Amino acid sequence: MDIFESVDALRETVQRWRQAGLSIGFVPTMGNLHAGHLSLVEEARQKSDKVIVSIFVNPLQFGPNEDFDRYPRTFDADKVLLQQQQADAIFCPSVDEMYPNGHSQTRVIAPEKMTGILEGEKRPGHFNGVTTVVAKLFNIVQPDIAVFGQKDFQQFAVLQQMVDDLAIPVSLVRAPIIRDETGLALSSRNQYLTDVQRRVAPKLYVALQAVEMAVQSGNRNYEALCQVASQQIMSDGFDFVDYVEILNATSLEKAQDNDRELIIVAAAKLGQTRLLDNILVNL
Ligand code: PAJ
Repeated sequence: MDIFESVDALRETVQRWRQAGLSIGFVPTMGNLHAGHLSLVEEARQKSDKVIVSIFVNPLQFGPNEDFDRYPRTFDADKVLLQQQQADAIFCPSVDEMYPNGHSQTRVIAPEKMTGILEGEKRPGHFNGVTTVVAKLFNIVQPDIAVFGQKDFQQFAVLQQMVDDLAIPVSLVRAPIIRDETGLALSSRNQYLTDVQRRVAPKLYVALQAVEMAVQSGNRNYEALCQVASQQIMSDGFDFVDYVEILNATSLEKAQDNDRELIIVAAAKLGQTRLLDNILVNL
């Protein structure tokens, strides 16, 4: 497995692979890898000849009071996992390599309609950081496909819109959420949870499953369903519910009665830790 810290070195290898007619799958991450990330690598491996995984904690997508400094950086462990998963290369640039001082001023602005809500509303500027770094990574890696998790559903919708709007020649693949045995969606941020919080955390998914069942059995009173779920999550022991919403899975607009692909999304806090989860529903 090759490890590249510089854009030029990675480009050289990618060019060689391309000239040999090999297809390239790409999995962008911020490291601290778990089974969720590794499932994306597996998906990329099945769909392409060579797999490149990036590990870059992107300062542009963190707000001033967020966890950029304390975000877990575990490169040695990540490297072992990626080797086991048979990735072909890791791209792990420094912040200075990605954003050379004074030479990185252009930003890709995420579509306002999709980012004024949910995570975008709670984290102003976050998605512009994501679109900027992912567009730049796509230009560096030039992958045929790129795999992202459904776990960050809004991120996927925003990136799909970016790729369509800017005609970026890459196919995005959305891979399902990997959960632990309690149903809790795997996330790097789960390690911030105390033992007590860890016992409460899986109830977020339970509440979303109840909404899913109601929707599948014909209930279209989406506002009321979300309100009930939100109350349930609070009484289960969460400290704060940021949102529970049922949206059109493509446009992220409020779901209409005749929409067929819906997403039930939630974000709730246990102490300072925000947990996200969602369920995709096809009617
Ligand atoms: P990160 O949080 O490291 O996530 C990398 C990828 O792993 C994302 O596509 C995310 O949706 C996926 N993922 C996380 N948990 C998952 C789970 N439990 N099951 C399946 N997939 C899961 O998302 C980012 O990094 C960054 O915003 C990035 C796209 C790399 C841009 O900086």
